[in-house]
Amino acid sequence: MPAKVVVIGSLNMDLVTRAPRLPRGGETLIGQSFSTVSGGKGANQAVAAARLGAEVSMVGCIGSDAYGQQLRNALLAEQIDCDAISIVDGASGVALIVVDDNSQNAIVIVAGANGALTPAVIDRFDSVLQAADVIICQLEVPDATVGHALKCGRELGKTVILNPAPASRPLPADWYAAIDYLIPNESEAAALSGLPVDSLETAETAATRLIGMGAGKVIITLGAQGSLFADGKGFQHFPAPQVHAVDTTAAGDTFVGGFAAALASGQSEAEAIRFGQVAAALSVTRAGAQPSIPTLSDVQAFKAP
Ligand code: RIB
Repeated sequence: MPAKVVVIGSLNMDLVTRAPRLPRGGETLIGQSFSTVSGGKGANQAVAAARLGAEVSMVGCIGSDAYGQQLRNALLAEQIDCDAISIVDGASGVALIVVDDNSQNAIVIVAGANGALTPAVIDRFDSVLQAADVIICQLEVPDATVGHALKCGRELGKTVILNPAPASRPLPADWYAAIDYLIPNESEAAALSGLPVDSLETAETAATRLIGMGAGKVIITLGAQGSLFADGKGFQHFPAPQVHAVDTTAAGDTFVGGFAAALASGQSEAEAIRFGQVAAALSVTRAGAQPSIPTLSDVQAFKAP
């Protein structure tokens, strides 16, 4: 039986422009291209886990608009179980994304239907959560829902992952005890811990604080510098495979989905981190959110340059 991953979170249609650089306040730039691409941190993590070997169910909400159907169809095409995706009247979530010539991006999201994912909806799909080996949450749906989902996962005895993205402030203190793996990037780790994170040493200090707050284990993703694993007994640094990046959108999502799929399939934490890192490295060599996410055979064929 393939390992079962349940993702609770957002689905967004990404409206993506490429421009030479990110615009400054009040500035108009001439863009080079425009595309609509299926995204949303939750849906991207679901696609990553599915392409990378897990059986996946997605719990979320889409709007009654055309984007909603496209977002659902994109997941169905990956054999992701969409029975727990509810359709609500109104607009689907969207993300306005600018990607510059240095492969960096700036994103503004409008929650739309993602805002309708309430704790009551999670309770309606309790049987989906019960079937999970690993449950993944992020922060593009209401906080009350994330807190509830984490606690349900803990009560059911599942492995619970929180990717606290996007985060600009500390998490509610009572969430931490329900989190097995907290996976922030540098800026999210800084927002959660209240400490600067700009080096391996400062990442270690922040990870220690986050474990002190109650998180089981912490993996801080550090972009091209790899990631830092902390479990309260020590630290391990995992350098990232070096690749030529064209678009970093969904790299973090690919890492989280890949890590979850590998962990659920019985790989060790270290193996799952390395696997997630290769998947994320491959994703930055391609444009877009879901289109950039590699398959299991892509990852198996990867050879570091
Ligand atoms: O992490 C990348 C994702 O963030 C994009 O797909 C966009 O939808 C935003 O949610």
